[in-house]
Amino acid sequence: MPHHLLTLLDFTPEEAGRILDRAAAMKAVNYRSKLLDGKTCILIFEKASTRTRVSFEVAVRHLGGWPIFMTQNDSQLGRDEPIRDTARVLSRYGDCLIVRTFGHDKLEDLASFGSIPVVNALSDAYHPCQIMADLLTIREHSGRLDGLKLAYVGDGNNIVHSLINAAARFPIKVAVASPAGYEPSAAVVAKAREQGADVTVVADPAEAAAGANYLYTDVWASMGQEAEHAARVKIFAGYQINDALLAKAAPGAKVLHCLPAHRGEEITDAVIEGPASIVWDEAENRLHVQKAILEWIFTQGN
Ligand code: CP
Ligand code: NVA
Repeated sequence: MPHHLLTLLDFTPEEAGRILDRAAAMKAVNYRSKLLDGKTCILIFEKASTRTRVSFEVAVRHLGGWPIFMTQNDSQLGRDEPIRDTARVLSRYGDCLIVRTFGHDKLEDLASFGSIPVVNALSDAYHPCQIMADLLTIREHSGRLDGLKLAYVGDGNNIVHSLINAAARFPIKVAVASPAGYEPSAAVVAKAREQGADVTVVADPAEAAAGANYLYTDVWASMGQEAEHAARVKIFAGYQINDALLAKAAPGAKVLHCLPAHRGEEITDAVIEGPASIVWDEAENRLHVQKAILEWIFTQGN
C-alpha cells in the first residue's frame, strides 16, 4: 500500500517532527540528491498555483526526479474522464501524484484507485504541505514550537483545517476566530481534539489574538468561491490582521499568511510589509518542506 499525504493526520507526531528536522537540514545545505533518479512525479492542478506548483517542481528536480505538470484544461479530466480511470492509468506511468483540486473526495479516489502515492497540494478541505512550511517557519523564528499560541483570524477553510490538524501533531495551541457560519468544520475540530489538539474556536478576533505568538490569516474567498467575494468582504470586515489586532498579540508576535494575500482585506499593507511579517520566509520554506515530504513519500516503502 502506498503512503499518501492527504492530511497532516497521515503523519505520526514523530514523522511530522522528523520531516521538519529534515527540511531544516536540507535548507541549511541547499540540499540536492539522486533519490528520485529515474522517477516521475505527475502534478495535476485543477486550480491556479504559484508557490505550490513551482516549489514542488523545483523540489522534484533537486531530488533528481522529473516533474510533469497537467491541468484539467490540457487533459481528459476536463472532458469528464473519471478520476478513478485517470488514477489507474497515471499509476502505470509515474511514481507519485501531486494533486490540487476542489473536493477532498477526489484525492481519496485517486489514492484508492491508483497504485502510487498521492500528495495533497491543496483541496477545498486541507492544505497540509503549506502548514508544514508554516511550522518550519515558526520553529526557525521561535527556536521551538512547544507552548506557542497561534491565532488564525478569518475563514474556516482548508488552511485552518490543516492548522487544526497540526495542533494534533505538534505541541502548539491554535485559537481560531471566524464569523458565525464560517467557522472551521466541527468534525475536523472534534477529530483533532480526540488526537490531543489544543484548539479553541471563537467569534472575536481580539480574543483569539490575545497573547498569541503568531497571527495567521488567509483570503476571505478561496479559489472556487469567487462569486461570493463581494458578500464575504462585508461578512469578514472585522477579521483583518492590522496594527490594532497585532497590538493584542504577545510582544514580538509574528505574522503569517500562506499567500496570495489581498492587502486591505484580510491583512493590511502595513502589516504584511512591516517588521512582524515573516511571509517571505514562510513562502521560501515551501521548497525545503516539499523536499522533506517527497523524501518521506519515497522512503516509506513506496
Ligand atoms: N500558498 C499557496 O499554496 O500558494 P499557491 O496557491 O501560489 O500555490
Ligand atoms: N484558502 C486559499 C488558500 C490558497 C493557498 C484557497 O483555497 O484559495
